[in-house]
Amino acid sequence: MSPARFPVPDGRAALVPSVLSADFCCLRRSLAPLRRLASWVQVDVMDGRFVPNISFGPAITAFVARASGLPVDAHLMVEEPGKFLDAFAGAGAGLITVHAEARGAAKCLRRIKALGLKAGLALRPKTPVKALVPFLGLIDLALVMTVEPGFGGQAFMPAMLPKVFAARELIARSGRRVWLQVDGGINAETAVLAAGAGADSLVVGSALFKVPSPAGFLRALKREL
Ligand code: DX5
Repeated sequence: MSPARFPVPDGRAALVPSVLSADFCCLRRSLAPLRRLASWVQVDVMDGRFVPNISFGPAITAFVARASGLPVDAHLMVEEPGKFLDAFAGAGAGLITVHAEARGAAKCLRRIKALGLKAGLALRPKTPVKALVPFLGLIDLALVMTVEPGFGGQAFMPAMLPKVFAARELIARSGRRVWLQVDGGINAETAVLAAGAGADSLVVGSALFKVPSPAGFLRALKREL
């Protein structure tokens, strides 16, 4: 399945629903109304080793791609992501993000690019922003986690805002076209903070799927941003 194309940033932060908190009993009904409001959708992949939780794999990713009609960003919170890159590419992921703390991150990023996909590198909260530097020539997206990876519904870590700002500065100085994504505890208030610190892609999970109208939430958030 060819991955849907990612939209070019239009100067406002891209809104990226995370399906981790979606109702999987009616995923198509949950995601379809977001098609014109979200830039792409994120699948949080957890292996029970890199993080103390297990979520889903390529099969669900393929279904999310079909159900949403949106480009899919697979965030691999996985100890050995190199084992799964081809499977997620085959499932229709158009962007695959691996963690800088995972095994073989550089080799994984090269493989993702060789597969013709966009490559992302994620940093856990305790990993310093300078960890991005060796990879800036390889990646299309840098992900600064604003929660400890592993679970949705956690509180945003305001202490990460200087790190978001520092990442934006690093990317600007590099002259590279690298998107800056923030993931974790994003809601109407923290979205404005994260965008203000330089994020151009915001992953929203529980704040989006716990409200009666996720589409209304995204429309209101777009107006805020
Ligand atoms: C944590 C996950 C979550 C998820 C977003 O490992 O990466 O951050 O995508 O969930 P919320 O928006 O509920 O923090």
